[in-house]
Amino acid sequence: MKILLTGGAGYVGSACLRWLLHHGHDPIAYDNLVEGNVAAVPDASNRLIVGDIAESDCLAQVLREHRIEVVMHFAALASVPDSIADPESYYRANVLGTKSVLDAMRTAGVRKILFSSTAATYGFHSEMPLREDSPQLPETPYGTTKLAAEWLIKDYTRAYGLGYTLLRYFNASGADFDGEHGEDRRHESHLIPLIFQVALGRREKLLIFGGDYPTSDGTCVRDYVHTEDLAQAHQLAAESVEPGMGRTYNMGSGTGVTVLEVLRACEEAVGRPIPHEIVGRRSGDPGVLIASPEKIVRELGWSPRFSDIREIVLTAWKWHQRHPRGYRQDGT
Ligand SMILES: NC(=O)c1ccc[n+]([C@@H]2O[C@H](COP(=O)([O-])OP(=O)(O)OC[C@H]3O[C@@H](n4cnc5c(N)ncnc54)[C@H](O)[C@@H]3O)[C@@H](O)[C@H]2O)c1
Repeated sequence: MKILLTGGAGYVGSACLRWLLHHGHDPIAYDNLVEGNVAAVPDASNRLIVGDIAESDCLAQVLREHRIEVVMHFAALASVPDSIADPESYYRANVLGTKSVLDAMRTAGVRKILFSSTAATYGFHSEMPLREDSPQLPETPYGTTKLAAEWLIKDYTRAYGLGYTLLRYFNASGADFDGEHGEDRRHESHLIPLIFQVALGRREKLLIFGGDYPTSDGTCVRDYVHTEDLAQAHQLAAESVEPGMGRTYNMGSGTGVTVLEVLRACEEAVGRPIPHEIVGRRSGDPGVLIASPEKIVRELGWSPRFSDIREIVLTAWKWHQRHPRGYRQDGT
């Protein structure tokens, strides 16, 4: 299939692009490079189009010229603290940006979309694991904008005959086995790359937000899912989505790990202690987020390979060792 990946030069998008290439599809990335990396896209001169999803006419032309059958919509701003400080940018990128993608699809006659949604749309819950029908009560502009994008996609599907699959990721993590693809953004806020940046001397210490949550060691619990497993799910979803159809799946391992447990796994990988400090809670952070992945396993036959955080961080550490200053050699 000819597949266009908005945000395809970003962390998850480029992992999916690589996977699709290796599994017989013909993917291209469309990315404004605000966070993404040219070097993350294999054969970038042919497979990366630099553009903004806000430019709906331009995107429609790309969809037509490349005879795209499926859009995978990864492009978004995705930092919880930044969304609280600057909601306007988040509504523009995540809500108006998604509308612009949907309008381009209508113009070009593309009728299938996969959307990268998030566990942040669920908000605070005391019962775990979360199922797809758990109430969505987002607590931050990041979560509300991603939920609004879900609504847009559902409404467009009903009215204009699209077909969609919403994939609600929990914590995407890891790197590929050959050490060529990893996690590297200009403004990093994700735990595992931050830990390895400390290990590599690019940061003084890791700040852990909150040590008084009602969890085994007081730090937040999250569910980590490897990008290769996410990529496999995108392939399965793309091969089975049809116009008129709407499906939603949680993308997690079903296992919760605390921040300190992730840190210990990283220290084990690196072979030495990593400086850190526990500070106050950060607004908008639920204490625990764990997925039930049962629905996608049952319906699409998804079979994740990674379930152990130690294995996941080992793949990430391998990439960070090979690229100690990230994709952009100056480390900015
Ligand atoms: N990483 C996670 O743990 C996680 C968890 C839940 C959901 N998600 C969702 O998955 C998607 C991908 O996340 P990621 O971690 O790869 O983030 P990322 O920041 O690495 O990738 C996003 C990409 O989108 C591009 N982009 C942003 N705005 C754009 C615009 N207006 N036009 C064109 N391109 C634009 C960026 O340059 C970047 O390459 C996002 O939609 C995010 O909300 C990620």
